[in-house]
Amino acid sequence: MQKGQIINLEIKKLAFGGQGLGVLENVISQKQEDETYVARTSSRAEDNGFRVFADGVVPGDKIEARIKKIKKNYAEADVVSIIEPSPLRIAPKCKHFGKCGGCKWQMLAYEEQLKFKESQVREAMSHVGGLKNVETLVKPIIGCSEPWFYRNKMEFSFGNESKEDTELRLGLHPAGRHVDIFDVEECFLQSEKSSEILARVRDFARKNNLSFYNSATNAGLLSSLYIRDGKNTGEIMVNLVTCEEFMLGKEFCELFEDMPEIVSIYWTKIARKRGMKTQVGEVLLKGKPSIREELGMRHEAEGRSLKFKISPQAFFQPNTHQAEILYSQAVKAAGLTGSEVVFDLYCGTGTIGLFCAHKAKKIYGLELNESAIANAKQNAMLNGIENSWFKAGDVDKSIREIPDTPDVVIVDPPRAGLGESVVLKIVDFQPKTVVYVSCDPVNLARDLKTFEENGYKVESIQPVDMFPHTYHIENVARIVKGKFGK
Ligand SMILES: C[S@@+](CC[C@H](N)C(=O)[O-])C[C@H]1O[C@@H](n2cnc3c(N)ncnc32)[C@H](O)[C@@H]1O
Repeated sequence: MQKGQIINLEIKKLAFGGQGLGVLENVISQKQEDETYVARTSSRAEDNGFRVFADGVVPGDKIEARIKKIKKNYAEADVVSIIEPSPLRIAPKCKHFGKCGGCKWQMLAYEEQLKFKESQVREAMSHVGGLKNVETLVKPIIGCSEPWFYRNKMEFSFGNESKEDTELRLGLHPAGRHVDIFDVEECFLQSEKSSEILARVRDFARKNNLSFYNSATNAGLLSSLYIRDGKNTGEIMVNLVTCEEFMLGKEFCELFEDMPEIVSIYWTKIARKRGMKTQVGEVLLKGKPSIREELGMRHEAEGRSLKFKISPQAFFQPNTHQAEILYSQAVKAAGLTGSEVVFDLYCGTGTIGLFCAHKAKKIYGLELNESAIANAKQNAMLNGIENSWFKAGDVDKSIREIPDTPDVVIVDPPRAGLGESVVLKIVDFQPKTVVYVSCDPVNLARDLKTFEENGYKVESIQPVDMFPHTYHIENVARIVKGKFGK
């Protein structure tokens, strides 16, 4: 079997990352003199699990696939045709499905998506983490009660659909094409109002003959349009991002005069160089500098809610309603009684720590991004929380600068996870409980293994689905100090 060859493949499952996986029996890959691999048949009993990955398929699909890459342990293929569709397939809701790079799992019923996500977590914990009893350790995934219109923030871009296209487009990238943009006419991720704003801005740009930023010439005006939507308050922020001076601020604001829910309109100027974007200026064209959002607690403190002010650059969990569930699961996993010192590491704008504050002695938040820390302090003030302390710094370098010793450590690192160095620094403090909020089950599993090798025990892992119709999975793991410590 070589690159370019067409094979028949039955998709067995969905791998983490969203690709479908088929397995070829009696096939093994072999390195050639030029260091590339070919796959050949083998009669050895152990050579019966050669994995082939393909995009855009679901378990049960029987497909014709063209091999595009052969590696030591697997191959990648493009779908040529679907010979027999899986019974799991449903009609996608959005007319842009297939073309759009988002929502790749729309052809699977939401309940099926959740089953696959849950089993991916179990698999990662068992294979990468070496954890036992994953059937009971990993709890049933918590799905979204409403899997559409769940995002509070969207970024749309200006561009052309192809080199031949002469019309200005405002929308998203077609799958796998990072320069081209197609017009999004409907999108079920944010809101119907978001689609309306998009249509008005596109029409405005066309009527005024505005140019868009073109990376090939490094010139042009319009770059992107951000829409933020306070799901629990109804307040909307619109932020137009350009690469040159924008002279039509007044006319731009007039576009939304009959939409009182748009309470904040910004123009942001950026400079772009070799793919990098730097903010040059941020001008509030109309309304308030930030929108308000509220997050309700769903556990123990049911009924309480926290208020947040969201400025254009602030990080805020993109799925408001699931963030309430995720944070409440983190508070539950922390098992607080009111007397604990809590470290909230990678705290962002302080949301998880602030959710814990009413049940802790003191919260210490550490986070790399200085403006997020400034937001965290404001958020504490806004909610009258006085037992919190926030500082900007790299967790690996600055964790020992926190002027206290934790009973509970909560971490919510980026995708790469904690890594051994940070895990060992946390273990050095010997906290009784560690709560690990993670957006990457494989890296979580790797770090849980390090915790278990250093005197800690993983007690539970709660998957939470924050991003329906995508492969992403969030988890909250509760890790406790073993009987005999380190
Ligand atoms: C997944 S976000 C978590 C944010 C927050 N817990 C929340 O839910 O809003 C990860 C955060 O880690 C921060 N970060 C990334 N690398 C870091 C580092 N080395 N030290 C401290 N913070 C870091 C990022 O700026 C980001 O705010």
